[in-house]
Amino acid sequence: MSGLAKQPPLAISGRGVTRLVILAGPWAIKAPRPDYGWRLFLHGLLCNMTEAVFGRSALEGFCPVVWHIPGGWLLVQRRARVMTEAEFATFDVAAFCDRETYQIAAETKADSFGWIDGQVVAIDYGEPPHRLPVGWWQGNRRLSAFREPIG
Ligand SMILES: Nc1ncnc2c1ncn2[C@@H]1O[C@H](COP(=O)(O)OP(=O)(O)O)[C@@H](O)[C@H]1O
Ligand SMILES: [Mg+2]
Repeated sequence: MSGLAKQPPLAISGRGVTRLVILAGPWAIKAPRPDYGWRLFLHGLLCNMTEAVFGRSALEGFCPVVWHIPGGWLLVQRRARVMTEAEFATFDVAAFCDRETYQIAAETKADSFGWIDGQVVAIDYGEPPHRLPVGWWQGNRRLSAFREPIG
């Protein structure tokens, strides 16, 4: 069962250390969390900024970002049904993250992944990937979260 049918319509996830996530109907609303201190709050801003880039790009495997406030203050993704530990045990996470021309920088744990429309997506991909298509960051100001993404 990969849909949202059995998920509560409204919930708050405090599982992450950089963002608090409000799960509301089909949306996941992500904000930097202030309660673990300034450093992790800054990480939260950066993670939201990075997700705004990749989640709006045409690269596959990233949970889509539908709306965000520039600067990382708030980000709205489609809500996924988070992967269970049992599913993760049989999931080839390396193959999923290591794409031919890029890498999905998600932590290798169940709650960094989920299901949307029957497909697995990364839901926590706020770290900058080490490997990207040639020319992805270099000189590409369009990758700023303040502008339109490419790809
Ligand atoms: N798009 C999403 N759909 C459903 N749940 C999500 C989504 N994004 C995050 N979550 C839930 O919120 C938790 C924290 O979000 P995450 O992106 O992992 O933040 P952090 O960067 O703080 O680890 C996730 O582990 C997951 O349980
Ligand atoms: Mg996380």
